[in-house]
Amino acid sequence: MRTDTPQTIRRADYQPLAWTVTDVDLHFALDPAATLVRSRLTLKRNPRAPAGPLVLLGDELELVSLQIDGRTPAAARITDTRIEVDLDGDTATADIVTRIAPAKNTALSGLYTSRGGFFTQCEAEGFRRITWFPDRPDAMARYTVTLEADKASYPVLLSNGNLVGHGELADGRHFARWQDPFPKPSYLFALVAADLAVNERRITTMSGREVLLQIWTETAALERTGHAMESLVRAIRWDEERFGLELDLERFMIVAVSDFNMGAMENKGLNIFNSKLLLATPDTATDVDYESIEAVVAHEYFHNWTGNRVTCRDWFQLTLKEGLTVFRDQEFTADMLAAEGGDSARAVKRIDDVRVLRAAQFPEDAGPMAHPIRPDSYQEINNFYTATVYEKGAEVIRMLQTLLGRDGFRKGMDLYFARHDGQAVTCDDFVAAMADANGRDLTQFLRWYSRPGTPRLSASGRYDAAAQTYTLTLAQRSAGAADEALLIPVAVGLLGADGRDLPLTLAGATAPGTRLLELDAAEQTWTFTGVAERPVLSLLRGFSAPVIADLDEDDATLAFRMAHDGDPFNRWDAAQRFMERTVLGLAADAAAGRPLATPEAFVAAFGALLADDALDPAFHAQALALPGESYLLERMTPADPAALRTALMHLLRDLGKRFAADWLDRHLDCRVAGDYRYHPRDVGLRALGNLCLRYLCAAGELAGFAAAERQFAQAGNMSERLGALGALVHSAAPQRDSALAAFHAHYATDTLVLDKWFALQAGAWRWDPAAAPTLARVRQLLAHPAFAATNPNKVYALLGGYFRANPGEFHSPDGHAFWAEQIVALNAINPQVAARMARALERWRSFTPALQASMRRALETVAASEGLSPDVAEIVGKALA
Ligand code: PHE
Ligand code: ZN
Repeated sequence: MRTDTPQTIRRADYQPLAWTVTDVDLHFALDPAATLVRSRLTLKRNPRAPAGPLVLLGDELELVSLQIDGRTPAAARITDTRIEVDLDGDTATADIVTRIAPAKNTALSGLYTSRGGFFTQCEAEGFRRITWFPDRPDAMARYTVTLEADKASYPVLLSNGNLVGHGELADGRHFARWQDPFPKPSYLFALVAADLAVNERRITTMSGREVLLQIWTETAALERTGHAMESLVRAIRWDEERFGLELDLERFMIVAVSDFNMGAMENKGLNIFNSKLLLATPDTATDVDYESIEAVVAHEYFHNWTGNRVTCRDWFQLTLKEGLTVFRDQEFTADMLAAEGGDSARAVKRIDDVRVLRAAQFPEDAGPMAHPIRPDSYQEINNFYTATVYEKGAEVIRMLQTLLGRDGFRKGMDLYFARHDGQAVTCDDFVAAMADANGRDLTQFLRWYSRPGTPRLSASGRYDAAAQTYTLTLAQRSAGAADEALLIPVAVGLLGADGRDLPLTLAGATAPGTRLLELDAAEQTWTFTGVAERPVLSLLRGFSAPVIADLDEDDATLAFRMAHDGDPFNRWDAAQRFMERTVLGLAADAAAGRPLATPEAFVAAFGALLADDALDPAFHAQALALPGESYLLERMTPADPAALRTALMHLLRDLGKRFAADWLDRHLDCRVAGDYRYHPRDVGLRALGNLCLRYLCAAGELAGFAAAERQFAQAGNMSERLGALGALVHSAAPQRDSALAAFHAHYATDTLVLDKWFALQAGAWRWDPAAAPTLARVRQLLAHPAFAATNPNKVYALLGGYFRANPGEFHSPDGHAFWAEQIVALNAINPQVAARMARALERWRSFTPALQASMRRALETVAASEGLSPDVAEIVGKALA
């Protein structure tokens, strides 16, 4: 592990490579304890770069030998992480032999073993843990790879591209040779050697080529690959239709692995997936899992064009591929949902995405890790696979589509590929293609790429009854950048007293409902004419920009929009705003020791929403669900997790009790007959049915406990089973523990499903005040035989479930001390996983003074510990700075 003092890498320091690699020939003699890697690099001097030595990077490598043009170089400068050699002429060949120990690689970056197989993960800087190489994304080369391994243990040998040879060797070993026709950066290299089975299908692409699709897993899991295969085929079709992009390979492979730091990886032609994002049957995966699998399979497939064919010049440009590819997978999912569930299903997807943005990205952007979607500096690139780069990055791309229109956006994409196919480029290149294809100056828009923090948008409207005009003034504010306005697309509507959209006339042109305003100054005013009555403003429809809209609406206005806003996103958002106001009010009362009473105006509005039978069930479930706890915590000054938890419990109980009969009726109405289908209608019904159980059980309603117990016992699929179990666990139900035990017994050998069991308990609230703190149970579960600190999914389920998904229990001196102990332990096993968990305390300065003290102590303990990885050092260092 690298433990050197953290170095800051800056975007401004980019230099092109003096020596590029045109071809790489790799040979692996695979062995868990000692794998020998032979690498031959064909090198070329880069005529467009200043002269300089050949630079090869390495990390934890044993260099066996290095030769340049067949001879050991006289004056190579070699350190643990870097080799520099001065070369003459314009071309050279390097032969490098390296020894590595895959079985010891618990960081899961580079070549590692998992359940008896070999797997790789090279993004961002894992390739240098396999062999010495100019390991940066602008070094694009053609790869030929030979894998050699024991045949009985590793019957399947895979790498990128096409299989060009295979055969038997002495001593029970065999080999396979793969050739990737497309030049690629090293982070897209992959190999797999394991005992796997395959689900395969042949399809014909838009130009009539036949291609082979394969999904590889352990044999026992093969029956769980059907949904992923369907998803892959849908993704291929969608990219052909929506963007005219075709699969460019003869074969496209996906492999499942149990030990994986992230969700999945888009290695060229050989995607590697965390098995939790690939494997599903109705009995083992929830509706949410089905949706995530479809989205991630599509996401990685879409990278083949946005990321692989056109890649990033350097890691600061990460959002070039990630923001764009998240946007593409969001659009894909929305189209898939809308095909079966209509526009309401599309709105629900938008709501889901904005929930994620608000819960994860807004807090990040307000804390010590805040960065623009294109960062200016980093210490450890692994820490910048963030909600900002991904989710806010996708919002920035979405704004481009909103501003240019779907057709204009497509023209920009076409030009981007026409110009840059096969290149490593920057975000400026992408925006330039959008600008040039549409004849539009996007200079101001580019500021989104360099602005950290969440901009704030405020609005004030003035109605002139005599003139029948409505004058709307919008203002924007970004922390620390007051003079440079962003270009913000703001979709607005005006509601009449009957709740309907008024026609909007601006400078003589009339739009029926929603109108897009382009705010490009600190403050701007628009005057709508022919406004026959005093309207209610509906601002930022569809969440047209990633900003915080400060609206000072009174309760009556919120209730009105909650009942009538013609934009489904804003209708949901009005409910969220009213809920937020209500919860934060209750939390303030709880903090001050005042008795809690839910405001009647809110109860009435909520009751009306609950009673609205016209709503689509999936939307109804979204509208009736409270905002996420982490989002609410972020909106609270100072953050007081205990008071917030008290308020949330009060509100859930109160709403559960007051509307008990309605919840029960609706729960019964939501039953889905027949076999499991992953279909928006059924998914929505199950979500709403489960939400009803949540409220009922929170309220301690015996009929609710009974209904949950019944659903748990009779469940025909995991969504019903886990929904019922979740409702029982999040309550003081006497059935709670027996249901948890039954679930465990049923899935005792199913490691993926057990992750749900771990997460549920780690995230449990204490509804019974006499119960022990959740920490006691988390400690017990750490010692459970199914738990393994080396498996990231287990850590994310148990420790993530506690540190990140359970702020009301976690934030206490004991919780914080436990955090420090666990981060130090994880740091020694897997720095990336440790750093992700470490982020749970980065916002410590926004908490109450008492909590700040124990958080600071915990952070200082970690910062002072021996052998801290750069990953964790950056997080705690920035938190304490
Ligand atoms: N590039 C992957 C994705 O977003 C994520 C990833 C990053 C996976 C780093 C592994 C390591 O699709
Ligand atoms: Zn991605």
